[in-house]
Amino acid sequence: TKHTVGYFVGSLARESINRKLAAALVRLAPPELELSEIPFRDLPLYSYDYDADYPPEARALKDAIASVDAILFVTPEYNRSIPGGLKNAIDWASRPWGKNSFSRKPSAVIGASIGAIGTAVAQQSLRSVLSFCDSPQMNAPEAYIHFTPDLIMPDGEVTVASTEEFLRNYMMEFRIFIARVLQVLPRDA
Ligand code: FNR
Repeated sequence: TKHTVGYFVGSLARESINRKLAAALVRLAPPELELSEIPFRDLPLYSYDYDADYPPEARALKDAIASVDAILFVTPEYNRSIPGGLKNAIDWASRPWGKNSFSRKPSAVIGASIGAIGTAVAQQSLRSVLSFCDSPQMNAPEAYIHFTPDLIMPDGEVTVASTEEFLRNYMMEFRIFIARVLQVLPRDA
C-alpha cells in the first residue's frame, strides 16, 4: 500500500543543507512512500487571537497535514533548538485547541548540521514538542547527519555510499513504522 508523507524543511535558507538532505530522502524513499513538502514560509507569527478565524496560509497548513498519512521533519539545529519558523508552524498546526493537526499523526525527525553532533540537541527538543502534540514518533533509527561539503548535491544525489545506504534504510524503516501505526490508528478512527 501507498502512504503519503508531508515533510517540513526547518530551514528557510536558499542554500540550506537540510533542503539537500530532504531532496536525498525523497530520492531514496521506497516506492510505497509518496513525499510532498509542506511549506510554512508565509505564515504570520502565531497568536491565539487568530484561533477564531485562521488566515488562509494557516488553513492550508492544517489541510496539508490532514491530507497525509505521516510527517517527516528535516531540520537544522539553531542555537541548540529548532528554528523559530518551524516552531511557529508547529504552534499554528497544533491549534485551535481541540483541533491539533498532529494528534495521532505518525512522525519522524532527521537533521543535518555542520557541527559534529548533527542536530542531536534540536531533535531532542523537537521530540518533546511532538510528544506533547500527541504524535507517535519513530524512535529508531535516529539520524544525525554531519554535513561535510558536497556530501549531498542540491538535486539530492548523495556522494558517500555509506551515507546513501543509511538514508535509504532510514526511509525504509519509516515506511514500516507508518504502516504499523496506521494499523492501530487508522486515519478515519
Ligand atoms: C547555527 N548552526 C548550528 N549548528 C549546530 O550544530 N548547533 C547549533 O546550535 C547551531 N546554531 C546555529 C544558529 C544559527 C542562527 C545558525 C544560522 C546556524 C550552524 C548550522 O548547523 C549551519 O548553519 C547549517 O547550515 C544550518 O542548516 P541549514 O539552514 O543550512 O539547513
